[in-house]
Amino acid sequence: MSSDPHQYTFLYKVLKSLYYAVITDNEGRIILLSKNYQELLGVTDEEYIGKHVRDIIPNSEIPHVLESRKEDTGHLFTLKDGKTVVCNRIPIIDNGKLLGVISSATFYKLDEVSILNQQIKKLQEENLKYKKQISELSSTFNQKDSLKKIIGDSLPIMAIKETIQRFAESDLTFLITGDTGTGKEVFANAIHELSKRRNKNFVKINCAAIPKDLLESELFGYEPGSFSGALKEGKVGKFEHANGGTLLLDEIGEMPLSLQSKLLRVLQERELERVGGLKSIKLDVRIICSTNQNIEKLIEKGEFRRDLFYRINVVEINIPALRDRLDDIPLLCKHFIDKINNKNGLGITNISNDAYSLFYNYEWSGNVRELKHVLERACISAGSGQLNIEHFDFLLSRMYKNSDVKKNADEGSLNDVTSEVEKEKIIRALVETNGNKSAAAKLLKIDRSSLYNKIKRYNIEM
Ligand SMILES: Nc1ncnc2c1ncn2[C@@H]1O[C@H](COP(=O)(O)OP(=O)(O)OP(=O)(O)O)[C@@H](O)[C@H]1O
Ligand SMILES: [Mg+2]
Repeated sequence: MSSDPHQYTFLYKVLKSLYYAVITDNEGRIILLSKNYQELLGVTDEEYIGKHVRDIIPNSEIPHVLESRKEDTGHLFTLKDGKTVVCNRIPIIDNGKLLGVISSATFYKLDEVSILNQQIKKLQEENLKYKKQISELSSTFNQKDSLKKIIGDSLPIMAIKETIQRFAESDLTFLITGDTGTGKEVFANAIHELSKRRNKNFVKINCAAIPKDLLESELFGYEPGSFSGALKEGKVGKFEHANGGTLLLDEIGEMPLSLQSKLLRVLQERELERVGGLKSIKLDVRIICSTNQNIEKLIEKGEFRRDLFYRINVVEINIPALRDRLDDIPLLCKHFIDKINNKNGLGITNISNDAYSLFYNYEWSGNVRELKHVLERACISAGSGQLNIEHFDFLLSRMYKNSDVKKNADEGSLNDVTSEVEKEKIIRALVETNGNKSAAAKLLKIDRSSLYNKIKRYNIEM
């Protein structure tokens, strides 16, 4: 290049008149800002010359170019006034030596497509970020929601909820035991919803409800023409339906021994062959088993394989009977009354204390399911307002029917009619006084010792 000072002046003017341009030395110190850029930044020559570019333009990418010595073209850059421009940053290299960087920006209208492309890319990245955040949020929301569906805050229920939360994410097999109506299926649902398989199939099969000779093909499926009466096209079994998700083997205690060995093999090998088929199908299924039977007893009787029991009994949860967690009754009542009100358009508000006392003394052999049905009957008969003890008269008679006195009674005798009435009165008094015998005796206007005798005579359980 000529050393003519006029040419330098000319070049200087050219650079100054570039739209938005910055030139730095090899340490990132600004040598020149174009006129427009200088005006936009509102700095005088003295204020910028020799300053590090990041001191004047905090989001400048020039330091990266100095580091990489590679040109960086066609990138979007947001100026101080919020306008977006397309920026090209070129390292100035002379004989292999880095002298500095020139960065110049053009209006986006010159390259609208590339701007749009970059904007799309940016939006896609943001979209991905939000999607991730939403899925994280919704999974914690789902988790809380799934546990909320299990009504109850008694100590045993809280402990079970904790166990579920701890192991649901793993693929460990659960064995849920508990009497009929205690909520085994409700807990199984929660385990699936809390697991990482929550968006996959949750398949249930009730081993007690399916005829024994059909159970195998229901579980494992069959190939076309495997047996007479089979579908022409064959059938996919519950295991395959549940692939990737969760399979609930309900009433597992009812599974015939012959099938137990096949089930054990499938659980161990994690693959199955359909009935009449030769091909092995890989399985990725989380198993939950449930039963209201005592499996240890079935093992003793030779009706359940011990090795299968060990295989399924990895995380055991035993749901206590309702009578062993009376603390849950008020919450369950509120939950069911809300549901019954909504479903039937009723206006039941609450339950009286004496009705609650009855609930605390009742046997609840059908557990939560029985409580739900009892409430349904009482709510529908009351229609609105408070549920009082009269709305649960049928429970008192159930209590009475269950007692031994009734079983041994000579139905026709007048004495027994009197006894029935007397017994019912005593039970009512005990319920109303929450089992306080002195108060109950007072209410019945008899002395305590004769109340004790009558409780004994009528076999009233306390
Ligand atoms: N903790 C609970 N919270 C809310 N509803 C419950 C709870 N426990 C039980 N239920 C309700 O009680 C009824 C019976 O529950 P579920 O079917 O889960 O019982 P189960 O133990 O599987 O009974 P079974 O042994 O007879 O199959 C269902 O309507 C269920 O919604
Ligand atoms: Mg069930």
